[in-house]
Amino acid sequence: MKNILENKPVLAVLAGLAVVWVGGIVLLPASVHTADESPREIIISSESDPLFERICFDCHSNQVDYPWFTRIPLVSLVVGHQVSSGRDSLNFSNWNELDRDEKAGSIEHSLEVILDGTMPPLAFRFLNKKSRMTFDEFTIMTRDANRALEKLKQ
Ligand code: HEC
Repeated sequence: MKNILENKPVLAVLAGLAVVWVGGIVLLPASVHTADESPREIIISSESDPLFERICFDCHSNQVDYPWFTRIPLVSLVVGHQVSSGRDSLNFSNWNELDRDEKAGSIEHSLEVILDGTMPPLAFRFLNKKSRMTFDEFTIMTRDANRALEKLKQ
């Protein structure tokens, strides 16, 4: 077999990957890290809000805390896309601006996706320990979301 360093296509691919990698590390954090410092009213309950924050806010708020693996090229593309499209469908940072019906709708949908296990997305849960919920956390989140929903619908 030929020495790998004499193989031009392989070298070209490696060089390409290196450029994407460095580019990803340099450009991505700046473009996706946004802070949200404004005080927010209670969303679900004081007990479950920190759980929603830890488990859902990476993709559904302006308060993105990217784990290390999102800096890997391609992974960053996929997760970056999940975050931006997740935020399009639901952004908890805008909570104060939602009316009663919109809040009820958001909580109802959140409850559905937690119960059917589609959120957080499986790949993200697999890669990111903090986005996995324990059974107790699942119970608190669904219990309080149900209560909040009932209140909003009164
Ligand atoms: C890794 C990013 C990520 C995390 C973490 C995440 N989501 Fe999502 N979420 C998405 C994406 C992407 C979509 C849009 C999916 C689509 O439209 O198919 C979405 C869509 C949704 C929707 C809208 C679904 C619909 O039917 O319109 C709800 C509600 C939702 N997520 C709730 C949550 C809740 C609650 C959590 C935490 C338990 C959570 N998500 C965690 C990425 C994420």
